[in-house]
Amino acid sequence: MSHSAVLIPGDGIGPEVTRAAQRVLEAAGAEIEWEECLAGVAAIEAGYDQVLPDATMEAVQRHRLALKGPCTTPIGEGFTSVNVALRKRLDLYGAVRPVRSVDGVKTRFSEPGVDLVVIRENTEGLYSGIENVITAGVVTSLKVVTERASRRIARFAFHYAATRGRRKITVLHKANIMKQGDGLFIRCAREEFEEWKGQLEYEEVIIDAGCMRIVQHPEQFDMLLCENLYGDVVSDLCAGLVGGLGMTPGANFGIEGAAVFEAVHGSAPDIAGQDLANPLALIMSGVMFLRHLADTSGDDHLTVIADRVRDAYNACLLAGEKTRDLGGSLGTSGFADAVIARLSS
Ligand code: NAI
Repeated sequence: MSHSAVLIPGDGIGPEVTRAAQRVLEAAGAEIEWEECLAGVAAIEAGYDQVLPDATMEAVQRHRLALKGPCTTPIGEGFTSVNVALRKRLDLYGAVRPVRSVDGVKTRFSEPGVDLVVIRENTEGLYSGIENVITAGVVTSLKVVTERASRRIARFAFHYAATRGRRKITVLHKANIMKQGDGLFIRCAREEFEEWKGQLEYEEVIIDAGCMRIVQHPEQFDMLLCENLYGDVVSDLCAGLVGGLGMTPGANFGIEGAAVFEAVHGSAPDIAGQDLANPLALIMSGVMFLRHLADTSGDDHLTVIADRVRDAYNACLLAGEKTRDLGGSLGTSGFADAVIARLSS
């Protein structure tokens, strides 16, 4: 069965890693007709006057499915983030970021190993983008917390846990200080949890102490539920437990089945265009993409293809076929070649 989806190469290392992932999925037998669309600096350079051109938005809305490379956002000035805009405009409210230790990538946390999922609320919090210069030298950044979004992400997290065989949700918060905002977030989670009592375990942990516990005892955590900024920071922290940003895939789920798959990492301008980037996080995101497409289309063969890709990259890592960030010597395209070579073995 043939399927279609949007491919957004993005900026920096984006085109290199998306090309690698695209090649791997194709070699594994996934028949995807890609509609390639621009976003980010790449869109401006191509002559669009917006970082998220209408044509790209329209295509993602039409397919309701995309594989996306990272997009650059300037720090402290310039245009607002493409990612934030895409997530808000498509209402991609739930980010899912699995973090797992993998045989062949040894870290100080490999024993007893890490296997957790970060669920991040994607549409509000401090990413509201509402900032005001009150007077010279005084700025306020507005953290928006709504009951609607807080209940929605809590329900999403509990449902995800129950359907994926997860046992425990830890809500990270700072409601001791942000009594109203984070207070509302945990109250909604606590109330929504009532429906799942007996099926799942639930705990609330203040985020600073939680971060310490995550690095001391990551095995104590199964799923982390966070508002937007905490989820952003904690995702990278957790990536560090399993080998870094080259190892952490992600998905953003929205209403009416919309889903955009992208790695946790950014456009890594420091290594862009040098064949140095690790495409594994986007290849892993591609595996999540295939599993989602299998679920939504009923094409079970995609699950077989997803398993084939996962087995191939695991075999590569075990054999020491890795990119430099993981201590290996392969480049971006060399790693994709190695995964492709293992698909048939
Ligand atoms: P970054 O994730 O791009 O890079 C952080 C460090 O990790 C760099 O040293 C980089 O070389 C390394 N790194 C990242 N991905 C890697 C990979 N696949 N293989 C090997 N090394 C890798 O984060 P940074 O520098 O904070 O952000 C750069 C740009 O990316 C910014 O404009 C930021 O706004 C954007 N960004 C975009 C995201 C998205 O589109 N989803 C997510 C995060 C950041």
